[in-house]
Order: sequence, then structure tokens, then C-alpha cells
Amino acid sequence: MADIAEPIRRASHAGVRIAGTGAYLPEKVLTNADLERLMDTSDEWIVQRTGVRERRICEDGDSLAGISAAALKSALKSAGLKPSDLDLLIVGSVSSDMTCPSAACQVLDMLAGDPEMDRGSAGAFDLTAACCGFVYGLNVAHEMIRGGAYKTVGVVGSEILSRFQQYDTAGRGTAIIFGDGAGAAILRATDDPSKGQLAQAMYSDGTRWKDLFIPNHEPRDFPGGTRATEDVLPLGYMRMNGRAVFRFAVGTFGDLIQETLDKAGVTAQDVSLFVCHQSNVRILDAARDRFGIPPERMPVNIDRLGNTSAASVPLLYNELVQSGRAREGELVMFVAFGAGLTWTSSLWRI
Ligand code: UT7
Repeated sequence: MADIAEPIRRASHAGVRIAGTGAYLPEKVLTNADLERLMDTSDEWIVQRTGVRERRICEDGDSLAGISAAALKSALKSAGLKPSDLDLLIVGSVSSDMTCPSAACQVLDMLAGDPEMDRGSAGAFDLTAACCGFVYGLNVAHEMIRGGAYKTVGVVGSEILSRFQQYDTAGRGTAIIFGDGAGAAILRATDDPSKGQLAQAMYSDGTRWKDLFIPNHEPRDFPGGTRATEDVLPLGYMRMNGRAVFRFAVGTFGDLIQETLDKAGVTAQDVSLFVCHQSNVRILDAARDRFGIPPERMPVNIDRLGNTSAASVPLLYNELVQSGRAREGELVMFVAFGAGLTWTSSLWRI
């Protein structure tokens, strides 16, 4: 009998490497002192509860596609590749400029200066998993390359969440945390089987979507509607039950790290870097304490950039690559959680 697994084995790639990373940050800085002038809050309250001191904010004229394209361009440059080398582009975001088409298609249009790009041969789609968007994207892209159908995939995590914040006292529950930015990575097939993922996880609990959401309209068929009676924000602005998300995150983060280590058969001590979604410094501290991880192995940049949702993991990872702290051959775990609720991990030998 013919070996039906044979063609699949021949087509799949031995390993996957992160060939390049890039980032884009808007120039405008919004400090806690600026927020004190806009709403009833204080630098002390924000730093104590979140760890955020300042965040970057886009200008009105900036586009999600534009900041995503800038991050992707710098990632392609660091990988020594051209836009036309991409087989596929995944953009993880909840703040696209348009409902249709995807931000990914708009990004490819922006990179079309490369004549080969005009053929439009790369596949392109957006991935909506809120703060998990980039790590979900890494997991999807890894499997698509390992499966053999794609060789070079761009993954972008990009957000302009300032668009969904009301910068006054009514909106202070979320406006103080979030910032804007974009990060990107280029994943490539390699013959080196030691490079790539050791374990991954992607989870969701849709029953908890009301803990964090941005309503565009009010459908009749949503149980309980989309707005609480005490809701003072108009449609189009973010709502978050911060306390509920916080409690969920503290438990889930640690459990997910443990589960991912177990799947790979390694310990927290084997992992050189935990590149975690920059949600709130207290949530990260709880995970660090549980595993006895020193601060340098679970780095933070939330003090400078705030919570940039899907962009936070690639922005931080790019900093670690640029500064030489992420070294080839080491184990790196990417971890995120967010609206949905969703939570995800991705453990790599880079
Ligand atoms: O990445 C997406 C996932 N999201 C997260 O990870 C967010 C998780 N949650 C959090 O980070 C925290 O819940 C927050 C930072 C959002 C809020 O901190 P908290 O310690 O949970 O505060 P709280 O919402 O329980 O509010 C405590 C008090 C309230 O006043 P009363 O009712 O005790 O008088 C709030 O009205 O603090 C008040 N408050 C503020 N005061 C000053 C809420 N926001 C502010 C503010 N400045 N910005």
C-alpha cells in the first residue's frame, strides 16, 4: 500500500526561525502629568495601579495601515528581505482604519513600491484576538510554515487604541492604560530543525466578552444588550471591567506559563526570556513571583509605552533583539491575554 504520509513529510519544513523584527512608535508622548490635566486622576494612582508613566499616541491623520507598514518595513530590512519575499501577511489588530478590506491588504498596498509586489501575490488577512493578536499570529504562522505551504510570513501586531478612549474622567478607567504602536516579525522556513516552536496554546472564553469590548452598534439579540444602565460612554468607546480582567489575568497568566513549560518538558529556569503582554505591571509581578523569575528575564516596557494591546509583545521583543538580550539558540516564551476573553502562549527556540 502507498505511504500516504510520504508527500506531506516531503513538503513540510524542518524548522522555523524568526528572521527579523521591527517596530514603529508615534512621536507624541502622553505623560501621566498630561492626563492629570484632562481628567480626575494622578500620576501616583496610575503608577501604583498599572506601572505606566507615559504612552505614545498617534496623531489624527495617522493610519493603522501606515504604522503597521512602517513596522513591517523595518522587520523586512532586519531580515534582509524585500516585500516581494513575503508569501503571507497576518496583521493582529482591533483598530483597523476600515472594516473592509483588511489592514493586511492595505499594508501590502503601502509596500507596493517594490515592482514585484504589484503582482499582489502574498496572501493577506487580519487576525482579531485583541491583545493576543500577535501571539495568535505567531502560532498560526508557525504551523503554516511547518506544514510546508508557506516559506516566509510577516506577522504584525498593531494598534491605535487611543481612538477608542475618552480622555476625561468618564473614560479614565481605560484611557490611562492604553498606548499606540506597531511591532512586526518575519518568520521563515529553515532546514535547521532546532529552530521553531516547542509548544503553543490558544484559548478563549466567549462567555466573558463583556469584560472588555468596543461596541459599534447595539444589536437587539445580545443577551442584556451591549450597554449597562450606568454606561456613560457613547458607542465606539472601550468598556472594561478592569477588576474582573485583572483577577482573571493574575490566575490565568501563571497557569498558562506552567502548562506551556509542561507541554515542552522544560522548566521556567530553562527559559531565557518571558516576553509578556504589557497589560499591567502588577499582573506581570504576580507571574514573576510565582516562578521565581528575576526581572531581567521577564522584562517590562509598560512604564514607557503603556499597554499597546496586540503591539506590546512584538514591540518588547524587538527591543530585546535590538539590545542583544534575545540571543540565538535560547528559549523564549511569548505570552498574552486580552479581550474575548482570550489567552495564548508560544514557546520558541530562537
Ligand atoms: O490588556 C487588556 C487587558 N486589560 C488589563 O489587563 C486591565 C486589567 N485591570 C487593571 O489593570 C486594573 O483593574 C485597572 C488599572 C484598570 C484599575 O485598577 P483597579 O485597582 O482595579 O481599580 P478599580 O477599577 O477597582 O477602581 C478603584 C477606584 C475606584 O474608586 P472607588 O469606587 O474605590 O471610590 C475608581 O473609581 O479607583 C477609581 N479610579 C481611578 N482613580 C484615579 C478608576 N480609575 C481611576 C483613575 N484615576 N484613572
